[in-house]
Amino acid sequence: MPSITVEPCTFALFGALGDLALRKLFPALYQLDGAGLLHDDTRILALAREAGTEQQHLAHIEKELRSYVGKELDESIAQRFLARLTYVHVDFKNADDYTALAEKVGSEQRLIAYFATPAAVYGAICENLAKAGLAENTRVVLEKPIGSDLESSRKVNDAVAQFFPENRTYRIDHYLGKETVQNLIALRFANSLFETQWNQNYISHVEITVAEQVGIEGRWGYFDKAGQLRDMIQNHLLQLLCLIAMDPPADLSADSIRDEKVKVLKALAPISPEGLTTQVVRGQYIAGYSAGKPVPGYLEEENSNTQSDTETFVALRADIRNWRWAGVPFYLRTGKRMPQKLSQIVIHFKEPSHYIFAPEQRLQISNKLIIRLQPDEGISLRVMTKEQGLDKGMQLRSGPLQLNFSDTYRSARIPDAYERLLLEVMRGNQNLFVRKDEIEAAWKWCDQLIAGWKKSGDAPKPYAAGSWGPMSSIALITRDGRSWYGDI
Ligand code: BG6
Repeated sequence: MPSITVEPCTFALFGALGDLALRKLFPALYQLDGAGLLHDDTRILALAREAGTEQQHLAHIEKELRSYVGKELDESIAQRFLARLTYVHVDFKNADDYTALAEKVGSEQRLIAYFATPAAVYGAICENLAKAGLAENTRVVLEKPIGSDLESSRKVNDAVAQFFPENRTYRIDHYLGKETVQNLIALRFANSLFETQWNQNYISHVEITVAEQVGIEGRWGYFDKAGQLRDMIQNHLLQLLCLIAMDPPADLSADSIRDEKVKVLKALAPISPEGLTTQVVRGQYIAGYSAGKPVPGYLEEENSNTQSDTETFVALRADIRNWRWAGVPFYLRTGKRMPQKLSQIVIHFKEPSHYIFAPEQRLQISNKLIIRLQPDEGISLRVMTKEQGLDKGMQLRSGPLQLNFSDTYRSARIPDAYERLLLEVMRGNQNLFVRKDEIEAAWKWCDQLIAGWKKSGDAPKPYAAGSWGPMSSIALITRDGRSWYGDI
């Protein structure tokens, strides 16, 4: 039996026939049901504006659920879960449609409204929910992207805030729901071993890589307007950077954690015009090989515009202007069509202050803490030891002290990020969600970068699909006398 209790709710999913809902949200809700984490009285309303009957739409949702959950689907859980579902036709901008919705919702339990729709309609949905008397006590969940710059994100946030206060607004960054990302908090603040070393006295630099093997996967229309900086850096990578760089919060409450994260974002040094060429690399993939098969370039993907200069890769060096991190670069790198899917943070510790071993081994002397978010979630600390053997003298070797989550907790399935996030919304716990001022501080930093790019007019650098990005992303780090960890 689960050790936590979750109150009953009516979970209204706007955009229920969209890719995110079908691929991630219904399967996550199903898993929560299977884990005994949905209250018996919880109901799910699938809301969409597509024509068709309730029966057709529910059948489609069921078919997709079966395919995404796959072989592990348990028939009795599936039946219980599907019995919770109702389909309601709602044109999100039409106030009249919300009257019918209000009847289905009733007043006995809390409403959770999840917006898996474009952010442009969030304001209209909120207004219509309020008009239909459905705003009081309701929690709203906003998917990213919230806006495409500071100004547009403010508009969306302000439109929502007219009807829903911040403490009932849950902004999703699904990276915050990943098990290992949450482990960063435990690792940092439950181990005094690390916290005493966690600053510029002991750490030389930090790498954050979020590489994807996939390309655009039919999302060209959305992606081309966004690009990798808006799609990945503004949210996921900056959130990871905040969790690594923030000061210890006073407690685990949502606001204590978020206060510390905002301080980091505000301390990020803006990238200067010269920095645009030395500190940042934009790339776009051209045709190459992925998993041994030929794949097209970004400009040859389905529905592409062959003139696009949208970036599919970004590498950059970020500097944090505070006492803890002065002089410690954070190298961020993310791209589509990289050789493998890999999200990993590497903390590089400084060399010992006095070196007594053979000079030729000096280069490999530095401890590294490697936090693997996906795949093979785990943490490994590379420490120096001596090679075994009479003939080895004091030859050093770097070896891992390793904690692999899937081996260690073999029986436990690692939950998908959305399972955790949906559960936390139902529990009313906001600490895995992004506050308005965090989003705005992140946009502010990214906006100056985007403005710089626009002004320079430089095209992104090509890189072959299946490679680690343009050569200049290697130069970016080697210029500082370092290299990306583990690149082959
Ligand atoms: C999403 C981006 O937020 O994150 C996608 O919009 C990206 O472009 C995805 O593919 C990556 O998420 P994950 O969990 O697969 O690393």
